[in-house]
Amino acid sequence: MVGVISVLSLRRHLMLGERLFNGAMYALSGYAAGHAYLALRGHVGKPMPAEFPAIIWTFAAAAVVHVATNHGLLWGALRLNRKEGRLRDRRRMESGLPLLLASDLGYAVLGLLIAALWTVTGAFAAVLVLVPLFVARWAMGQFAEQQRAYSATMEALCQAVETKDFYTRGHSERVSRGSGMIAREVGMRPDRVDAIRYAGMLHDVGKLGVPTKVLQKTGALSEEEYAAIQLHPMRGLEIVREIGFLDEALTGIMHHHERIDGKGYPMGLAADEIPEFARVIAVADAFDSMTSNRSYRQARGVDEAVRELRNGSGSQFDPALVDAFISALQREGWKLPEPAAAPLDHQTVTAQDHDDPTAPLRVVESL
Ligand SMILES: [Fe+2]
Repeated sequence: MVGVISVLSLRRHLMLGERLFNGAMYALSGYAAGHAYLALRGHVGKPMPAEFPAIIWTFAAAAVVHVATNHGLLWGALRLNRKEGRLRDRRRMESGLPLLLASDLGYAVLGLLIAALWTVTGAFAAVLVLVPLFVARWAMGQFAEQQRAYSATMEALCQAVETKDFYTRGHSERVSRGSGMIAREVGMRPDRVDAIRYAGMLHDVGKLGVPTKVLQKTGALSEEEYAAIQLHPMRGLEIVREIGFLDEALTGIMHHHERIDGKGYPMGLAADEIPEFARVIAVADAFDSMTSNRSYRQARGVDEAVRELRNGSGSQFDPALVDAFISALQREGWKLPEPAAAPLDHQTVTAQDHDDPTAPLRVVESL
């Protein structure tokens, strides 16, 4: 019966040959498992309450035989078909094998549950056990879909920021990674680590509200221009405030330019008044900015950037978080931005009129 049902599987992409193979495989697995169950003197028929818990062990042994036969046949078939280009399937199976085994044994438990309930509710047992299972699977699918939509939203926003400023390509991504390193190092819960990675990704989204001319200016800024730049954390908050899942990440976006000594912006918060997310992002942000090329200078090396972080520790940065970042850095290393992200010829940038806002654009075009 199991074999016939798997031949009629609802998965539309299966070819007839694959369907027949699956049917035969499940029939054989069931046959082997049934014989294992009999060999261990398992009781045939509906399981009675008195048989529990002893029946669990007999059933577990049969389930293991089922899984072993099933996977053995599957592996054999994939091996034989190696030359026919199903390599991707095999790779996928190899990487997910422990999970596959665990889920098969999990399904076996559901099987026992259905059999046990059968004595009480009859065929309705299948509905009782399987409906919650299908609902859970459906919900997981929805959740995964939602996560994908979140990441796509993040990427679109980052893309928008990076399009505006040539020198910050990949910056959001790296600040996100650096913030995650610090968060893990100080032992944050996994859901907060995820949130801080979003915050790192979006910390400069407020640049969308700063005139491009100001962002790309290479010379000294006027007071007005500086004020426009100082507004970007607030602008960022305005842009993403309505995105519900960001929650704590919003505090990181709004306060990532605060300093421990209270001389930062936009609020001039000091020490512990600054939300933890913002203190973490400040360290990763400064480090990546120092190790990337900027319009007015070449990138610094990692060692030099670490020295600068130490210099600012206690005045600009939270000392504990600087230490955390440095130890994470020593263990995990840091992937420096691609050199291609820098103008080929620095002379063309520095020799231009600093007040000419079109100058950096010209550099982009010459690449
Ligand atoms: Fe910023």
